[in-house]
Amino acid sequence: MTSDLFWSVCETLLVNLGDVMQNNFMKIATTRDQASAFDAQDPLAHVRVHFKLPEDVTYLVGHSLGPPHSAALERLNHCATESWAKGLVGSWNSAGWFDLAAKLGGKLSSLIGAEQDEVMVTDTVSVNLFKLAASALPLTQGARQICVDAEEFPTDQYVAEAFADLIGVSCRRVQPGEDFGALSDGGVYIKSAVNYRSGERVDMKAYELKARESGALLLWDLSHATGVIALDMKKAGAKLATGCTYKYLNGGPGAPSFIYAKKSLLPKLYTPLPGWMGHAAPFEFEGRYRPRESAARFASGTPPILSLSALQGALEAFEGADMKILEAKAGALGDLCIARAEEIGLEVISPRVASKRGGHVSLKVKNGYPVTRALHAKGFQSDFRTPDTIRFGFSPLYLRYVDVWDLMETLSNIVETKSWDAPEFHARSEVT
Ligand SMILES: Cc1ncc(COP(=O)(O)O)c(C=O)c1O
Repeated sequence: MTSDLFWSVCETLLVNLGDVMQNNFMKIATTRDQASAFDAQDPLAHVRVHFKLPEDVTYLVGHSLGPPHSAALERLNHCATESWAKGLVGSWNSAGWFDLAAKLGGKLSSLIGAEQDEVMVTDTVSVNLFKLAASALPLTQGARQICVDAEEFPTDQYVAEAFADLIGVSCRRVQPGEDFGALSDGGVYIKSAVNYRSGERVDMKAYELKARESGALLLWDLSHATGVIALDMKKAGAKLATGCTYKYLNGGPGAPSFIYAKKSLLPKLYTPLPGWMGHAAPFEFEGRYRPRESAARFASGTPPILSLSALQGALEAFEGADMKILEAKAGALGDLCIARAEEIGLEVISPRVASKRGGHVSLKVKNGYPVTRALHAKGFQSDFRTPDTIRFGFSPLYLRYVDVWDLMETLSNIVETKSWDAPEFHARSEVT
C-alpha cells in the first residue's frame, strides 16, 4: 500500500470510529485485556509492520534514534547500489541528488506547519544552532545577550556560550521560572519546545508573544517535538528553529538536521558559515557569496546523500499523516505509563497532562542505570540520563498499548525483586 493510501485509510478509520477512538485516547487501560482492546481499535496499528524491529524487542528509544522503516531501507539500498554504484557522478543530476536536501526540507515542512521553502535539511542541530544564533543576533535591535535555559540540552548550552564568547556578548543561563524575564531583555533565546529530560512542552505561542514585546528572537530546538506532536510554526508565530531527524522522524543514525526560518525574515538572515551549496548558483563558481532565497541559504557544504536517501524513505512514511492523531496516541501511551508508574510508587518527573508533554515520559528512579540495564535484558529498550532519569519514548507508529502495559509490569517486578542489583547491570556503557 502506498503511504498516501495508507494514511487516507487511517483517516477514514478514525472518522468512522469517531467518538470511540477519541474517548480511547483519553481513557487509560486498567487491565492488559483493556490495553489489548485499545490496540484493536488503534487507527495507527497497521503502521507497525513496516518497521524493522527485532521480534523480542520493545523499542522505547524512538526519542533518541528511531528504528528503520522499510521505505528508508529501500531508498538507502537503491541510492547505494543503483544511483551511486551505477549512476556515479551523473546521479547529482539524474537521481536528483543536487536538490535532495531542499526537497526533503519541503516535505518536512508539512509536519511542522511551515511553508516548503522555509525548511532546509542540513548539518547537525549543534551546527545549525550556531548558524541561526549568529544570523539572528544582528536583528535584535542591538541587544547583547544570548539566553539559554540552565536545564537545556548540553549542546545548546555549549553553542550559546561559545558563540557569546566569540562575539563578546553575555551568555545568560535562564533559571526555571525566569524565562519571560529573560525574554523581556531582548537578544536571542535558545529554547527547546520539548525538554529532553522531563518531556515538558512549552506554549510556543506565549513565548513568541512575549518576545515580540522586546524584539527578542526565539531560536527553537524542535529535536524532541518533530514527528510526534502537531507543531505549527505559523500559528505559533515562530521565526527560527532547528531539530533532529534521527529521533521520531526515523531518519537513521546521524541523519542531518533541519533548519526552519520564517519567509519574511529570510532575506535578512546571513549564515556565518556560507558554503558553496548555499550559494544562489554554485556551479557559476563566483568568488563572492550570493545566498539562495529560500532556507536553502543555510546549506554549507556537500550534503550527505546516503543519509539523505534514508531520510527520504523515512519521510515518505509520514506523507499525508495527521500529526494530531500521532500526538493523541503518543499522549495516551504516556498516560498509561504514568498511571501505572504512580500505582507502583515510582516518581514521575514529566507533566501529568498529555498536552503539556512531548512524546516521552521520564521517571526518577534510584539506581536508574542498573534498572535500565535489567529492563534491557528483558527486551525493553529505554535510556538513562544521569544521575537518575529513565526515559521512555512513546512513538505512536510502532508501539502498542500492551507494550506499555508489559513494560510497566516488568519494571514493577525488577524494582520489587531488586533483580537490577546484579553485577552485569552495573557496568556502565559509553552511551547510556
Ligand atoms: C534537544 C537536543 N538538541 C540537540 C541535540 C543534538 O543534536 P545534534 O547531534 O544533531 O547536534 C540533541 C540530541 O539528542 C537533543 O536532544
